[in-house]
Amino acid sequence: MTTVSDGPLRVLCIVGARPNFMKIAPLMRVFRSMPERVTAMLVHTGQHYDEAMKDAFFRQLKIPEPDIDLGVGSGTHAQQTAEIMRRFEPVVDEAAPGAVLVVGDVNSTIACALVASKKGIPVIHVEAGLRSWDRKMPEEINRVLTDQISDLLFTTEPDGAANLQREGVATERVHFVGNVMIDTLLANRERAVPAETSLAAIADFDGDVSSFGLLTMHRPSNVDDPVVLRRLVETLTDLSQRLPLIFPIHPRTRARIIDAGLDQVLANSRITLTEPLGYLELLGLMSKARLVLTDSGGLQEETTALGIPCITLRENTERPITVDRGTNTIVGTDPAKIRACFDDAMDTGGKSGRIPELWDGKAAQRIAEVLVTWAGDRARVA
Ligand code: UD1
Repeated sequence: MTTVSDGPLRVLCIVGARPNFMKIAPLMRVFRSMPERVTAMLVHTGQHYDEAMKDAFFRQLKIPEPDIDLGVGSGTHAQQTAEIMRRFEPVVDEAAPGAVLVVGDVNSTIACALVASKKGIPVIHVEAGLRSWDRKMPEEINRVLTDQISDLLFTTEPDGAANLQREGVATERVHFVGNVMIDTLLANRERAVPAETSLAAIADFDGDVSSFGLLTMHRPSNVDDPVVLRRLVETLTDLSQRLPLIFPIHPRTRARIIDAGLDQVLANSRITLTEPLGYLELLGLMSKARLVLTDSGGLQEETTALGIPCITLRENTERPITVDRGTNTIVGTDPAKIRACFDDAMDTGGKSGRIPELWDGKAAQRIAEVLVTWAGDRARVA
């Protein structure tokens, strides 16, 4: 049942996995500052649950404790998605929200959007319209499907609206508002843990703050195939002879490296492994790095916002503005291409870029304004 009334709009805000936390933080802050217009409840699905993958982000970004934790945990895609849906349905029945807000492209995003939409509850998608055009990526499936069943779609870059229009999404549902992930980055720049502090705390690191690179890697396409993983680890080991690399390692990558027997290769490199880092530690390191090597979506955007060269270890990106305007270069997994881009960044300082339109720290505020107007319009026609 959808609740349409003159009172505050009750919104269930969903988070599940690490990249969701920095997107929801500014939204919760704005919503909670306007209780007369919006009542925001936070639901955590439990997709990510470790101290390093979840709690550190809640603490550092001052995200309120979730009102509800579904405690789903890990599993295959089908298990995880189905379990989130099963556990979320009674929450929706009980809360009878006026809308369900989802962010990004993780399994929690599609699972909760699907439950809400089948119950006739409007779905709001923040970070809509991004497309890699690569259906082998689980996130691409999540993005396409979530956008199809969303009532309000908030985009981060101009391409988003064009992609959605091509897929038949009504133009009036789509609002270009900027990037909530960059809201969080700008709000926390001053609070970042200085790179010197983090580097001093990382045992075995043999570089210094004027000369290090940052590496992250966790995409299934890079880490699940032992042949691809070996090629990448060997290439990165080679690069680390020129620039020592800090590698905060995702749990799935750590497991795959051990399975593939590559921990010995890394032990003989100048790549220093750490546990996954908190947001403020990573932001501090990223800001001072000579370059970033990554397969993450969020880091492509954050490096563009910070003006740090980013070498993306993927064949495509759903965030083309980071390439067209920003500091990002897509190199895939070919050792020669990775090496050429790395050498260029080392020799010339790498690609310089401009800050994309509306990446100004005010995206959450714009979203709240659109949402309040939308809720008012709905209340009037009800
Ligand atoms: C998920 C997202 C991905 C995002 C990434 C960021 C999907 C489809 N993928 O991938 O888009 O970039 O999060 O981290 O939703 N694990 C832990 N502790 C945790 C969480 C996970 O140890 O707190 C381990 C488990 O062994 C688990 C594995 O990591 O099986 C993968 O976790 P999962 O949530 O399935 O996907 P991610 O690879 O993290």
